[in-house]
Amino acid sequence: MTAPTELLAPAVLAERVGTEGARRRTFAIISHPDAGKTTLTEKLLLYGGAIHLAGSVKARRAARHATSDWMKLEQERGISVTSSVLQFDYEGFKVNLLDTPGHADFSEDTYRTLIAADSAVMLLDNRRGVEERTRQLFEVCHKRRTPIFTFVNKCDRPGMDPLQLLDDVERDLGISLWPVTWPIFDMDRFVGVYDRLTKHVLLFERGEHHGAEEVATIEGGLDSPEILSHASEGALAHLREELELLDVGLGDFDRDAFVAGQLSPTFFGSALTNFGVEPFLREFVQLAPAPAPRPATDDLVEPNDPRFTGFVFKIQANMDPKHRDRMAFVRVCSGRYAAGMEVKLVRTGKTLRLAAPQSVMARERSAVDEAFPGDVVGIVDKGTLRIGDTLAEERDVVFGDIPRFPPEHFSRVLATDPMRRKQLDTGLKQLSEEGAAQVFFTEPDAKLGSGPSPIVGAVGQLQFDVMLFRLESEYGAPAKLESLGYGHPRWVVGPKADIERVGSGHGRLLVYDVKGNPLILFADRWAMRSTLDRETAIEFRDSAP
Ligand code: G4P
Repeated sequence: MTAPTELLAPAVLAERVGTEGARRRTFAIISHPDAGKTTLTEKLLLYGGAIHLAGSVKARRAARHATSDWMKLEQERGISVTSSVLQFDYEGFKVNLLDTPGHADFSEDTYRTLIAADSAVMLLDNRRGVEERTRQLFEVCHKRRTPIFTFVNKCDRPGMDPLQLLDDVERDLGISLWPVTWPIFDMDRFVGVYDRLTKHVLLFERGEHHGAEEVATIEGGLDSPEILSHASEGALAHLREELELLDVGLGDFDRDAFVAGQLSPTFFGSALTNFGVEPFLREFVQLAPAPAPRPATDDLVEPNDPRFTGFVFKIQANMDPKHRDRMAFVRVCSGRYAAGMEVKLVRTGKTLRLAAPQSVMARERSAVDEAFPGDVVGIVDKGTLRIGDTLAEERDVVFGDIPRFPPEHFSRVLATDPMRRKQLDTGLKQLSEEGAAQVFFTEPDAKLGSGPSPIVGAVGQLQFDVMLFRLESEYGAPAKLESLGYGHPRWVVGPKADIERVGSGHGRLLVYDVKGNPLILFADRWAMRSTLDRETAIEFRDSAP
């Protein structure tokens, strides 16, 4: 193995960056709570060889209240993972699965993580299809033309008819689905899948350990003796009929449409029993894109450029008050990261030394010595880095495409100790710069430090909890929040008088972001929709202009 800090000859470095980047598959799972993300993650790890016996139901229940799916996994399995990315090897590929918290800890970070992924897997419950959170996360991917896979989970229990489900999803999300695997049912019992790319049937045998081990599989062509002797005639006849329908209706797999985010290769399975998980993983590593060139100032940064570049997409505060350090998560876009290397923080022009992350954190973490395009490294930071920062070696590029996401909850922040209002303002200013809070005012020219109490916006409730915790522990500013009862923000552009008139209507609140841009909050979706339909004098936008 190459020692991390060792300087590599340019030709060797270029070669390694090229081959390592090409075998990275970096993705995130997007789903609604309870669709089975934790279970699927665990099973992918099982097939990736990272764990040997997948979880026990009991351990899972005990860990239910853990704050993140990742911590839940860490605690249950006793495996060491960085809290933002799980890496495993599969058939010569290095797979990076990025954490997208789904429960109460849903926050702007969840959205931003999608920007660090090269593809996404949309996980659906076979009874529920597309749900609210799936839709929100899908929209972010779709806007960015991220290639999206679909995995229909829980096929071991009765659900919607697969054809009907595909139809519903297509209509709801406006994307075409192309089944790569198709479920095989024998008298309503889920017994296997057919892979339409390899034209193989895979029949699964229910194990004794409830999915704790890899499932025994019989594989062969549709007319092969193994398959004919193990599957019932009725199941195969039904499968043939459905495959014919699919072949006639869908044509060949269009890779270009997939890479452009318009067509989603779709899989059926059951994360619980492992049925269909490996057929998915097999096709996933083949179909999923390797890190692609990323747009930066005036340029596209090619992943195989040997000069290191990366951007910060998430900053995690340390919830242990004894450690003020934070962890900045950097997605490597090009070149090679080596622990201890020096890079430029392009925003300030300063040089930073990137140390290995493990020693400072309270919980045990695996040290990252070396990373390549597609990987994520956690960097211990004392407040220097911000969301969206570019780190680069020997060049001045800036990755400019890290959007802010509109908050869904708004609360007024009140200092519980009026003597500490100054500390509160300092804390809010820093949290806002760091990307952990979004601050708003009811007065157009207000600034932190003067005027009425500021308003904070968050994408999820946990973001508020983290904010309060940090204001108190890091800035000595205990505060409380008072919910405004408004959401559904729309930034508005148009004549001032019209904006003020519309903003003062019933069920609406006019506020201003830190840059002074006006936005209107609405009491409910209905109030928002009817205002948008009626008021044509001003333009409504769902993000800051
Ligand atoms: P999440 O991370 O997306 O929130 O979902 P999670 O994996 O925790 O799964 C949510 C529930 O769905 C769990 O049941 C889990 O066992 C179940 N589940 C996941 N995949 C499958 C599947 O393929 N088939 C079936 N039938 N169920 C599945 P629970 O009863 O809420 O919890 P637990 O007691 O099993 O942990």
